[in-house]
Amino acid sequence: MGNGEKKRELILAFESSCDETSVAVIEDGNKILSNVVATQVKSHKRFGGVVPEVASRHHIEQVTLCLADAMEEAKVTYNDLSAVAVTYGPGLVGALLVGVASAKVVAYAHNLPLIPVNHMAGHIYAARFKSEIKFPAIALLVSGGHTELVYMARENSYQIIGETRDDAAGEAYDKIGRVLGLKYPAGKNIDEMAHEGADTFAFPRAMMKEENFDFSFSGLKSAFINTVHHAEQVNEKLNVNDLAASFQQSVVDVLVYKTERALNDFSVKQLILAGGVAANQGLRDGLDELIGKYSGIELLKAPLNLCGDNAAMIGAAGFVAWKNGESADLSLNADPSLEFEWI
Ligand code: KG4
Ligand code: ZN
Repeated sequence: MGNGEKKRELILAFESSCDETSVAVIEDGNKILSNVVATQVKSHKRFGGVVPEVASRHHIEQVTLCLADAMEEAKVTYNDLSAVAVTYGPGLVGALLVGVASAKVVAYAHNLPLIPVNHMAGHIYAARFKSEIKFPAIALLVSGGHTELVYMARENSYQIIGETRDDAAGEAYDKIGRVLGLKYPAGKNIDEMAHEGADTFAFPRAMMKEENFDFSFSGLKSAFINTVHHAEQVNEKLNVNDLAASFQQSVVDVLVYKTERALNDFSVKQLILAGGVAANQGLRDGLDELIGKYSGIELLKAPLNLCGDNAAMIGAAGFVAWKNGESADLSLNADPSLEFEWI
């Protein structure tokens, strides 16, 4: 250092809201020095979904190992760190508590600021590793637990303008996957099948006519399940790739349509796509097509390898929160139903 060279700001980040234990070290909010992810998917597969108690136990077993690996891989010491960021909600309470407790220990032991991060802000900031976020922006957040449109007037400001009334998009994928006998989580598998099939089933597109930015996927899910069950009863063999393609087209149409409505109502510089379902190829293509209609808006998609849960995105969002003066004391608790404010 010296010669006026700027000190690099390092954030240590923890993520444990669902079935991924992850610890990362992020430099200046946009460079990944390490991003260790221990997934528990195998343990939950046989139950067809995440079992909260099993998830908590895995997090406890994994978190210190992930921390040691993340620090080693980043080649940094605790003295080099500027702050500790952690997901404190939304998510499974027992799972969140493991990350929160771990972050508190490091913050306390090394006298570092503790930065609470909303998991959904983290998902948005996965896109920061692709390029800078320009404001105002709208984010389409699609994951296993959430589906929402978020308006960001400026840095560190998040306001919900619409969300799902029932199932999240990823949840709907996983539920119809179960009906097709696919392993959990089924989203990626159905996405691949959809590309081998055609939209022949004319499943419903919910809430397209309503003057809001909300979504609903439970009607689509029921229509899908009824179609499959009816075919089983009359011994009819349906083309599963066509089923997948029809389901996916309905999901994508609704997501793209509501996003388009939002882009027409809010003047923004960027549209950000993030969350586990942001890895969906049909959705990425659909938004590419949509953004072609708007010359002044840039589409910023979270990198494929950072769409799922990881601590790097928490470090990026945590860096921004920290720069904006946010911090928590050691009374920080997990908040399983944490939500952004509505606009
Ligand atoms: O964001 P995430 O990793 O966890 C939550 O915070 O929920 O999202 C996981 C969800 C699962 O429901 C999974 O099936 C879905 O993302 N998913 C996909 C794809 N890849 C993952 N859904 C559709 N298409 C994909 N390619
Ligand atoms: Zn997530």
